[in-house]
Amino acid sequence: MRTIELRGDKVVLVDQTQLPWRLVRVRCHSAEEVAAAIEEMKIRGAPALAAAAAMALAITALRSRARTKEQLMRELERAGGRIRRTRPTAVNLFVGLERVLSAARSAVDIDGVREAVVREARAIAQEDVKVNRKIGENGAALLEDGDVVLTHCNAGSLATVDYGTALGVIRAARSAGKKIEVIATETRPLLQGARLTAWELSREGIPVRVVTDGMVGYLMAKEMVDKVVVGADRIAANGDAANKIGTYSIAVLAKEHRIPFYIAAPTSTVDPKVKTGAEIPIEERRPEEVIFFRGVRIVPKGVKVFNPAFDVTPARYITAFITEKGVVKPGELSKLFKS
Ligand code: MRU
Repeated sequence: MRTIELRGDKVVLVDQTQLPWRLVRVRCHSAEEVAAAIEEMKIRGAPALAAAAAMALAITALRSRARTKEQLMRELERAGGRIRRTRPTAVNLFVGLERVLSAARSAVDIDGVREAVVREARAIAQEDVKVNRKIGENGAALLEDGDVVLTHCNAGSLATVDYGTALGVIRAARSAGKKIEVIATETRPLLQGARLTAWELSREGIPVRVVTDGMVGYLMAKEMVDKVVVGADRIAANGDAANKIGTYSIAVLAKEHRIPFYIAAPTSTVDPKVKTGAEIPIEERRPEEVIFFRGVRIVPKGVKVFNPAFDVTPARYITAFITEKGVVKPGELSKLFKS
């Protein structure tokens, strides 16, 4: 299932705020509409954000009335600026934007810019599918027949263009004939695990059980988890990795219980400019996401709330990174960038 597509001069995406109740797609007609969809989490997940950012520029170019390359470049830079301000943590969004803008800059004229922007946006989406398949293939070898794999948030088809990173590893292991069961943590406050991961896996017949975030220690102590596989939003050069809030606690518990903890992510999630996790910008979202549960107030009036959307897992808790270029230990990330 494609999560996001460029259809003519529109971006069509699965509205993830409506799942698991309804599978509906929304059409975005401008970069502004794509930016709003990102902020409202209609589209989310690091690799899907790269595609959304790139496609936002593509529709800007296709709909523009600019007459010169310079005018069109100004519109693209403005649209890029708007997308850049949506969510700060997933580096993929910025990588997607930069790839498209630099393709645009190197075109010779206005028609060349239009063509380059659309070509690059489509290439980003196509590559994402291929990269995820490769991540799946590389990670499947780490899973054994009968494994129970715990995952957090949603790093599946819905977080990418298709197939998924952490869930791609699970899909590939199952395609290789291994019996794998999944434990999906609910993922407070927006419930990506309960709503999205459980929806994605159950509709494919992959056995999945949902637990609340606070149950992980109990399950691990009871030896109910064999491996952890999660995604990432930004990986620092030293191997510290930002992912959905709650990932850090799971990693610490996994180490205590000697359970392998893997991060499945494309190499484009590694940000070599960021030396350690301390430099990764962590998004803080609206307190209302914690205060209200589907419109019902669950925190007393006047009580303050803190709502960071991500945390950083230090490299020492990560057994290995599963990437499209192979499986590497945190200290070996630089190997991925040697040609
Ligand atoms: O806030 P979200 O839902 O965008 O957070 C997403 C995650 O944390 C995912 O685990 C991450 O983007 C990896 S997706 C392959």
